[in-house]
Amino acid sequence: MDKLVIRGGRRLNGSVTASGSKNSSLPVIAATLLSGNGTFTLHRIPDLQDISTFTQLINHLGAETSFSDNTLTVSTGNVESLLTPYELVKKMRASIYVLGPLLARFGEAKVSLPGGCAFGPRPIDLHLMAMEKLGAKITIETGFITAKARNGKLQGATIDFPVSSVGATGNALMAAVLAEGKTTLSNAAAEPEIEALCRFLTAMGAHIKGTGTTELIVEGVTSLSAVEFTNVFDRIEAGTLLAAAAITGGTITVDGVENEQLKSVLKKLAHAGCTLTQAAGSITLASPEKLIPTDITAKPYPSFPTDMQAQWTALMTQAEGTSRITDKVYHERFNHIPELNRLGAHIEIKKNQAIVEGPRRLSGTKVMSTDLRASACLVLAGLVAEGVTEVLRVYHLDRGYEQIEMKLNTLGADITREKYKEFS
Ligand code: UD1
Repeated sequence: MDKLVIRGGRRLNGSVTASGSKNSSLPVIAATLLSGNGTFTLHRIPDLQDISTFTQLINHLGAETSFSDNTLTVSTGNVESLLTPYELVKKMRASIYVLGPLLARFGEAKVSLPGGCAFGPRPIDLHLMAMEKLGAKITIETGFITAKARNGKLQGATIDFPVSSVGATGNALMAAVLAEGKTTLSNAAAEPEIEALCRFLTAMGAHIKGTGTTELIVEGVTSLSAVEFTNVFDRIEAGTLLAAAAITGGTITVDGVENEQLKSVLKKLAHAGCTLTQAAGSITLASPEKLIPTDITAKPYPSFPTDMQAQWTALMTQAEGTSRITDKVYHERFNHIPELNRLGAHIEIKKNQAIVEGPRRLSGTKVMSTDLRASACLVLAGLVAEGVTEVLRVYHLDRGYEQIEMKLNTLGADITREKYKEFS
């Protein structure tokens, strides 16, 4: 296995470019299953483990793909298999994204049930509810979801999501674009990754009104075409890099971003005392002498993202006073806290809220990644810790951050990747 060995205490300075978003690439790649005509060319796709797993998944269904220099080409004309096996789904919950497109194009699909996840229960009931509303008959047996459209074709419907869900909105959208008639999605997720999916589907020939809002109205069409598409930047990666600069007291510029999508994070960074200079396509952060404690509550977009909550917790260990971290998307997403405390942080969890007492001098030791964003949080802590921090099980980080140590080293960090053997 790989670990990152971080020699902390170096200020980050300089410029880096944000990668393409992982979380928008996945539904966009899934959406290629909607059209059997031509070849898609998708630019700015990050070179990540999750993308390669998802590509393997659509290849298993019969798609033909090639990937080089962050451009993925996909042809789905020969897709025949409608069965998504457990071996691929267990690696990545987002595999459920194939359900909507397969059902819409072929009238049926069989997808293995995804398992649990490191930061609490992550049900798929809303995905299934949306498919049922669109006229699918769902059965769950032997660990598989089997979905069949009545009379072979999905029908437009009104779907009101009781909870805002990125995945269920994406799946419902991909199913609705080829359904007969009109579909209304209320309380839909308005995350930039869903907006990107709407733009992609629209370019393919779908009729969608309300892109970028929480009410999406889809008028079904009979066929969609392959297109060329450039993916959006990864707002979580960009936010993580800015937090990395702030925790080390540095000054960095992140290029290739759209500041509007970072608004909630920039607002909190400004509150914490950072100076932010925005320009078209870039953001510069200069750190303050002392970080001001700043509470956050993670909620659906445009509020502060849950995927930045762990990194924010690491940052607040260096602020002068008490900050409170609440996550209203995943109430139990606090696996990183015992590990931060092992580095010397003082964080307590009280009633689904993390209370961080800062500033604390962190000192390097071995810490264990438990999920993607928890890993990023530990890397941030390692950047400011005295001595050497070893972040183990780095495969979590590799699922979602493209060349992270290379990017941080370009900014002045001292991180090496080494192999190690884990004793069980
Ligand atoms: C996506 C992101 C993930 C991010 C999350 C929230 C991808 C690949 N992953 O995950 O990084 O942390 O959005 O921004 O894009 N829920 C249900 N029933 C469902 C589906 C979800 O109750 O059927 C609940 C979840 O438990 C959670 C909330 O809805 O509390 C939001 O989850 P959701 O937006 O669906 O997360 P994902 O799409 O899985």
